[in-house]
Amino acid sequence: MRLRTNAKLNLFLRVAGRRSDGYHELESIFHGVGLGDDIEIEPTSTGEVHVEMTLSDELRGEIPPSAENLASRAAEQLVALGAVNKGLSIRIHKRIPLAAGLGGGSGNAAGIIIALNELWRMDLDEAAVLKAAATVGSDVPYCLSGGTALAMKRGEQLTPLPVPTEMFFVLGISFEPLFTKEVYDRFDTVGSEKEAGSAPMTFALGSGDLDEIASLLHNDLEPAAFSLRPGLESKKEALLRTGAVGASMTGSGPTMFGLATDIGHARSVADDVADEFDLVTVVSSAARCVERLS
Ligand code: C5P
Repeated sequence: MRLRTNAKLNLFLRVAGRRSDGYHELESIFHGVGLGDDIEIEPTSTGEVHVEMTLSDELRGEIPPSAENLASRAAEQLVALGAVNKGLSIRIHKRIPLAAGLGGGSGNAAGIIIALNELWRMDLDEAAVLKAAATVGSDVPYCLSGGTALAMKRGEQLTPLPVPTEMFFVLGISFEPLFTKEVYDRFDTVGSEKEAGSAPMTFALGSGDLDEIASLLHNDLEPAAFSLRPGLESKKEALLRTGAVGASMTGSGPTMFGLATDIGHARSVADDVADEFDLVTVVSSAARCVERLS
């Protein structure tokens, strides 16, 4: 079975506070983009799940050991729910940088859950699939559907949002990863300034007003990420200086994205900002996270 799993951006992310279980309550608007990892799943007879990852030529970074990545954890979660695992080889070709705030690992995990539910004939219903996804990671429930959605609580309470327009973004990628836990821990010390909610962004997305969307891009985790990685703030400013209509960090960073008016504009901003980042790439909106290739 072959799948592609796409990346996400957070167009809006507000942290509403720390919970007693250590996680943070969120109010976030996720938006899928067409930058995807390819996954090949083959049954084996080893009795084990083996994950092999390769990085696309333009990427750099540490590949996590097989047992530690979210794809393995997703498969293990289904085994814990009663699946009989005769053995599985999972090959993931990464185009989405790792630990970058782009939800690459979460998308891989969502793809594995959807695929194995079918391959292993588990017949888990929607609620059970959602629960398994939330156990694997906070962003995995969103990745089961992808597209544009408002996520509340830890990220598992999802409301799809209608977005009539295709949008174009410039991704400014830094290869030195930022770890989600560290960023949230730093957030507890540095906090953020904004108190406003996601409703204005929801309306702006519904009306397709690009200037309004640009002005409402927001991520509460920026002060925490900027304090851990001081060079990042000027990278965001570089996207705005080179003409992006708006810019923000995605997830817990370090990827910055700029919003462009069309594909030509996105390419021109990407050229002008190239020296600021390890990798710059142009992407457009994607309606789904998990796509079946064969
Ligand atoms: O759920 P996930 O494994 O992606 O989370 C990684 C870490 O990020 C958690 O251990 C937690 O420290 C932090 N986190 C959080 N609140 C969230 C999501 C993640 O505090 N809503």
